[in-house]
Amino acid sequence: MTQFSFDLGATDGRARSGVIHTPRGDIRTPAFMPVGTAATVKAMMPESVAATGADIVLGNTYHLMLRPTAERIDRLGGLHKFMNWHKPILTDSGGFQVMSLAGLRKLTERGVTFKSHIDGSRHDLTPERSMEIQRLLGSDIVMCFDECPALPASEAEVARSMELSMRWAARSRDAFGDRPGHALFGIQQGGVTRDLRAQSAEALTGIGFDGYAVGGLAVGEGQEAMFGVLDYAPDMLPRDKPRYLMGVGKPDDIVGAAARGIDMMDCVLPSRSGRTGQAFTRHGVVNIKNARHQDDPRPLDEACGCPACSNYSRAYLHHVFRAKEMISGMLLTWHNLHYYQDLMAGMRAAIGAGSFDGWQADFHADRAAGDI
Ligand code: GUN
Ligand code: ZN
Repeated sequence: MTQFSFDLGATDGRARSGVIHTPRGDIRTPAFMPVGTAATVKAMMPESVAATGADIVLGNTYHLMLRPTAERIDRLGGLHKFMNWHKPILTDSGGFQVMSLAGLRKLTERGVTFKSHIDGSRHDLTPERSMEIQRLLGSDIVMCFDECPALPASEAEVARSMELSMRWAARSRDAFGDRPGHALFGIQQGGVTRDLRAQSAEALTGIGFDGYAVGGLAVGEGQEAMFGVLDYAPDMLPRDKPRYLMGVGKPDDIVGAAARGIDMMDCVLPSRSGRTGQAFTRHGVVNIKNARHQDDPRPLDEACGCPACSNYSRAYLHHVFRAKEMISGMLLTWHNLHYYQDLMAGMRAAIGAGSFDGWQADFHADRAAGDI
């Protein structure tokens, strides 16, 4: 059986391209992972997600433990079979979603207790239980159970939270055990404080993980502050392991993160925006609900090869959005995921060719040119 491994292929400046090997298939990096929170990438058939170029999707411990439950998914043969996605799946560990979605939370050294946002029922999540749930799901890349402090937070609070997350990382490592072919990623915390980020990286590398995430960013600090952290944080993590920036982001965030040495990213933006009528293009965001599209026979993006752009006009996409037809979310999500995957493929090729600076200049020039 193929074990989990990472081959760093090429570097260009601080940007990296490579391949993560897993028993469920390869993940080309820099990789964008569409979000499939509730065992579906909303509005997309799994084969369509694969057709956009995605090598891996993300699932959520928090949502799946509440409904339909990890035990039920396990009895039905695991998450891959359940959702008919047979390539790799990364699952987030639950703590982050508890903090943003659940009601009435109580945080202790042991873990967190909370009320379900679905039916108000009480639940418990600890590092040990999160590892068990992610094992029952059959996740290929398991994330440590961590805490991401809500902003604004004082430096003392960020420090206390980071230290708790590092103790939870050690417990996650112990509870995960030895599972050939499955990977466990640590999550760096420490907010925007360089010294805390360094302490967190040291704690994680001391424990030893198959990959390392940069957590606690894209939580309202703004792009400049996030890039400020990414100017040093990835270099604190082992060069020979994948680095994953959690919950990022807009296209220019993604390009800036890859330029700073990030290998993996995930975000709801392309799928969520597709359902609210926003399309990402080389020239920026198109709001399809705008009346100026109602007689426009052109595709969303002339250069895009996705089904929405190959077969439909802006006028049609405008009409089905206004009429609240389901195909609207389907076509725009497909286009957005295709756009994101094209972006990743473009970066991988440019990094491989040693022309990433020029590629980035073109990316920004296209957006500045407007004409959407
Ligand atoms: N998603 C976005 N940011 C984070 C984070 O800091 N931790 C976890 N577990 N998930 C995230
Ligand atoms: Zn398209």
